[in-house]
This record gives sequence, structure tokens and C-alpha cells, in this order.
Amino acid sequence: MSSSAPKLWAGRFSQETDALVHQFNASLHFDRRLWPFDIQGSIAHVKMLGECGIIPVEEADAIQNGLEELRTDLTAGTAQLHPDAEDVHMAVETLLTERLGPVAGKLHTARSRNDQVATDLRLYVREAIDGLRERIGWVQDTLIELAETHLDTVLPGMTHLQHAQPVRLAHHLLAYFWMLARDDERLEQGRSRVNQLPLGAGALAGTTFPINRRRVADLLGFEGVIENSLDAVSDRDFAIETVSALALTMMHLSRLSEELILWSSHEFGWATMGDNVTTGSSIMPQKKNPDVAELVRGKTGRVFGDLTALLTLMKGLPLAYNKDMQEDKESLFDALDTAHISLSVMNTLLQNTRFNTGRMASASHGDFSTATDLADYLVRQGLPFRQAHEVVGKIVGDCVHTGRVLEDLSSSDLQAASALFADADPAALASPRGSADARGAIGGTGREAVLEQLTRARFRRSHQKG
Ligand code: ARG
Repeated sequence: MSSSAPKLWAGRFSQETDALVHQFNASLHFDRRLWPFDIQGSIAHVKMLGECGIIPVEEADAIQNGLEELRTDLTAGTAQLHPDAEDVHMAVETLLTERLGPVAGKLHTARSRNDQVATDLRLYVREAIDGLRERIGWVQDTLIELAETHLDTVLPGMTHLQHAQPVRLAHHLLAYFWMLARDDERLEQGRSRVNQLPLGAGALAGTTFPINRRRVADLLGFEGVIENSLDAVSDRDFAIETVSALALTMMHLSRLSEELILWSSHEFGWATMGDNVTTGSSIMPQKKNPDVAELVRGKTGRVFGDLTALLTLMKGLPLAYNKDMQEDKESLFDALDTAHISLSVMNTLLQNTRFNTGRMASASHGDFSTATDLADYLVRQGLPFRQAHEVVGKIVGDCVHTGRVLEDLSSSDLQAASALFADADPAALASPRGSADARGAIGGTGREAVLEQLTRARFRRSHQKG
């Protein structure tokens, strides 16, 4: 069996491609989304070819116009990429040739699909990064709003998933703000390394034509020109680095998801997700499931897989281009798509989640989470911390044995444990709010410290918006 696809490289071949081989070789079904970037790159390339006198200016203009019309028609849906084309580059060129005739063939002067695909991908990733950064900002803004609302909501902070010390809900939510701030920073810094021009590298060794790569870089908004032609066509660091940054972003979203799932369980009851962001069960009428958060947590694994696939794809490849590299796209696109929708949906989920401040407050009652504050009190009276820890440990142990909690203790109970408690106010020492407020240094959960943190978070956002 042979394929009927038009081949732009058929000159030296005396047999048609086997249909199965064509199908196996083809990438159009997953690289078709690159077409706007393919056209954008080609317009810059042909403009430069004309300006440098490599092809006549009138022909360059005709090709440029043809590409622009093609872009309009593909956008409007009045033109379609030939489904039998091998890849997006062939598909665009075939359409252009149908419209312009043989002159369209001059577009590929001083260019190869190897530098072309690298250029298209970089343009695509650059745009995707901008969209992702915008969405990271949405989630950050929602976290800031929630933190403002919940400045004075106190909940049990945990370590080992055991009640540890009381924290402000604002403080807890802002922890995720800073994770996302680093995610944004990684994407911003990676963007400059994405934003370098490979075009002009040719197949691998450069080109015999007097091209002007800097001009092409300027036309496409690239920050620089890749210095080495072999590196230009062989490098996929920019894709791996982006997916690596997104793996971290997904890991952050997954942790947030896990907490929202836990908090909306019957046992916790700290959060209630809106009916518009939850789903029901086909058998259990009472169920309201946190599917969105679960899916974000689940999809995190896909992005880790995409990263592993890309690293593994590249690790054994000799210079320069190898067809293996066609396999970069599905992992890359999957990671970009997954992070994109996960960020959007996480924002919607957060905007439609209510935090149950009463349940959070009562969860702190009787949980011994102010025990450190009792020890710190003794330290302020001059006792070394290790001894103070021991004294309070005994108080907790006694309470556990006698079925009491710290809130039950009177001044004389405390003084029985240590005379240094003589002037202590037992109610204040057992207060979760008091405990949180006492942590006033930068980065702590005290009211003023969190207000300060909120100011820095808002400043960070205005800086990100640039
Ligand atoms: N579809 C190919 C890819 O995505 C384009 C580059 C093909 N180059 C080649 N020498 N066959 O990698």
C-alpha cells in the first residue's frame, strides 16, 4: 500500500511511501496547532530573504501576502490543512504552493524544517508561558482576597498532620501565594531562554546564503540569536525547563487540592465547596464530591510523566536533529494544556469555596496547640527552654491522664507545675488567637506580621503585572 500524500522531498525516491509508514511518520494530528507560529516565522523569514536580496523583493512580498491571506483563511476556517500532509510545515507550504504556484518554493531558501520546527515551538512556548503566568496571577489574586477576608480566622496549624500550633487562615493561604510567586519567577526567567532564535541554523551547519538572523529575531520579538547552529536545531532544554517549572506548579496545586479535599471532609468540616464546583454520585444521593481538586491532584502525575518523557527522549540523542525529537510535542503540549486548565479551574474552585471559621475555631479547642506558648512563657521568666519543654510536657501528660485540656487549667494548676507561672493568665496562654498573635516577627502568623506579608504579596503582584 502507498500513501497519496503530497511529499515535498520526493525527488530522490522511486517508490511511494508505504501508507503505514506515512501514518507512523506523520505528526500533523498533534503539531497542527503550531500553524499560526509556522506562518509567523515564515513571514519574518521571507521578509528578511527579500531585504537581503536573496530572493527578489516582489517575490518576497507575494509570498508574504500569500502567507497573510492563508492565515486569515485558516483562522476563518475557509482554508484547511491538507489532512494527508506529513507535518504542519509541509501542510502550510502545500497550501501556499496551491495558491501561489512554484514561487512559494522560494520560501524554504536558507531554511530547513529543523530550524523551522525549533522556531515554531519556541514561539508557541513563549505565548503559552504568558498565558500560564496570567493564570498563576489569577490564583494569587484570589488567595490575597481570601487572606484579606480571613485575616482573623485562626485554625490549628499542623505538622505530621497533627495539631501543632494555631495559625491564621490568611497565613496558611499566603503560603500558597509564595509558592506560586516562585512558579511565576521560574517561568519569567525561563522565558528569556525560550525567547532565542534558532532560524538560520539550516539543517545543522548554517546556510550558504547571506541571511540576517538578527533582523529575523527582531521581527519575531526574540531576545537573541542562538550562537551555534548545531545547538539551535538540537536543543530542547527550553521545553524541558518549561515543563519542569510546570511540574513544580502542579505539585503546588496538588498540595492545595489535597488540603481542600481533606478540609471539606465530614471529619474536618473546615471548608465547603460550592455546588457549582462539585459533583454528585450516581448511587449515593447525599454525596457531594470534590472532583475538581481530585482531578488537579491526579493530573499532576501526568505532568511529572511529561517531564520524564522529555528528559528520556533527549538523553541519548547525538547531534544534531533526530526524528525522535518529533516526539517532544505531545508531552510538551500536554503539560502546557494541563497546567493551563488546572490553574484556571483552581481559581474557580477557590472563589467558590467557603471556609467554616466556626469549625476551625472549635477544632483548636482542647488540642493542646498552645503548649509551646506555655513553655515560651516559662522561658521569658528565665527558665532554659529544654526545662520549660519538660515542665509543660508533664502538664500535658497530666491533662491526658485526668481527661482535662489546657483550657481547663486554673492559675493554681499551672503554679503546681511551676512557681514561675505565678503571674500567668491561664486563659490568655490557652487562647489560639493569643498564640497566633504572639508570633510577630517577619514571616510569622501574628496579625501585624501577616498584614505586612499581605502588603508584600500585593506589591509582588503589581511587580508581576509589570
Ligand atoms: N515534524 C518534524 C518534527 O516535529 C519536523 C522536522 C522534520 N525534520 C526532518 N529532518 N525530518 O520534528
